[in-house]
Amino acid sequence: MTKDFWQEEIETMPRKQLEQLQVERLKKTVEIAMNSPFYGPMFKERGITPESIKSVEDIRRFPFTTKQDLRDNYPFGLASVPLEKVVRLHSSSGTTGKPTVILHTKKDIEQWADAMARSMYCIGLRSTDVIQNTSGYGMFTGGLGIQYAAERLGALTVPAGAGNSLRHLKFIQDFGTTALHCIPSYATRLATVLNENGVDPRETKIHTLIIGAEPHSEAQRKRIEEIWGAKAYNNFGMSEMCGPGVAIECKEQNGMHIWEDNYIVEIVDPQTLEPVKEGELGELVLTTLNREAMPLFRYRTRDLTRILPGDCPCGRTHKRLARFQGRSDDMMIVKGVNIYPIQIEKVIMEYPELTSDYLITLDTIGDNDEMTLEVELVQLVDDYAYLQNLNKELSRRIKDEILITPRIKFVPKGSIPQSEGKAVRVKDNRQNH
Ligand code: COA
Ligand code: AMP
Ligand code: ZN
Repeated sequence: MTKDFWQEEIETMPRKQLEQLQVERLKKTVEIAMNSPFYGPMFKERGITPESIKSVEDIRRFPFTTKQDLRDNYPFGLASVPLEKVVRLHSSSGTTGKPTVILHTKKDIEQWADAMARSMYCIGLRSTDVIQNTSGYGMFTGGLGIQYAAERLGALTVPAGAGNSLRHLKFIQDFGTTALHCIPSYATRLATVLNENGVDPRETKIHTLIIGAEPHSEAQRKRIEEIWGAKAYNNFGMSEMCGPGVAIECKEQNGMHIWEDNYIVEIVDPQTLEPVKEGELGELVLTTLNREAMPLFRYRTRDLTRILPGDCPCGRTHKRLARFQGRSDDMMIVKGVNIYPIQIEKVIMEYPELTSDYLITLDTIGDNDEMTLEVELVQLVDDYAYLQNLNKELSRRIKDEILITPRIKFVPKGSIPQSEGKAVRVKDNRQNH
């Protein structure tokens, strides 16, 4: 019989035992985080000590942690270990505001690689596979996160990175790639490039796609599976939790198992912050149980999802998250990059020739997701060269900030429709979003 689990004991652990493991790890995590300038005083004030943790329910004694807390304590205010133990950091985009920074010790990197290797094993990838990664290396966790995991699995890895689709095509053919990690929108874009170059994606050796990092529908997954003639599995990762490797669908393709030996999972009402009823939609809140450089307690992910009821036929006992249904904030994900309208707004404010009104429109053009930014000129100008220069400069400046290239459209002052109260800044016309 073939072995179906990477770590069978943990993956199929009876719930009671799993909760006991969570309690032990929560105690340990509290002990580590007492050293953090952010959590230390807070724990003292609330009487939170390792000894005071008796059950998983004790998590409700902790306050929530938000992205704003990370920004306010930029860059190292949430470090729970001396910096000499930290071996890597990942950071969000942005140069005007304060980005977020996530720290990792050697052990954090190992446990992250292990969790993602477990996820890969869960969808049938083995050391015999050739895994090609289309995520950006560098600050994106989808680069190195997938890389370390695929190496841990023992697969042959092709760290091709983002962009340059023709090179991806060449590697797929020359190296006999069997599995691809990509965001869903790039899966369709890359398939088009293959087709345009006379290669049917179904004729390649690719049998599995790991897709994640942006919302997508069941219909989009089916379309991806159809065009690639391969299985596509939804994968959830988040830099604050480590990166990819937090939750993944098993072969049942019915919800993503969230690895509960590594996280305590809560679903709360984003307004009241009270837990929702079992199985109801709410905001995902996570507590890390196996991280030391920068543990996070009750972190508000802002992702809206629910826990699927019942047991999974695959035998894994870890809860399953439903496909994400949006966010409780205004973050958008374009081409696999997280973007907040405020980042764009701040750049616009640097230009006295522009008003503060703007409109972001997201469209799928061909197979590409594109952002168009309409901005108002304070005064009408008919100097074409001047406008072209301004357009180029603004586009470059915004790319520095959000990492993707917007198309800029100048419009006369007063032409961007105003809505009552908070202006509607984003129109998302993308397919499957
Ligand atoms: N992953 C991989 N490649 C992508 C991509 C993605 N999410 N989004 C776009 N691309 C490709 C495009 O198809 C294009 O390929 P080509 O060279 O064959 O034409 C190339 O990247 C440039 O894209 P373009 O849309 O012209 O540029 P941009 O300036 O708007 O975006 C990117 C720049 C692609 C570098 C930026 O969107 C990026 O780094 N995306 C990857 C994000 C990522 O890895 N996230 C982590 C997920 S875990
Ligand atoms: P990052 O920290 O850059 O990895 O981005 C994390 C965010 O990406 C999450 O909070 C989600 O909003 C989004 N995300 C990651 N994986 C998925 C997925 N499988 N489905 C939908 N959204 C996802
Ligand atoms: Zn399962």
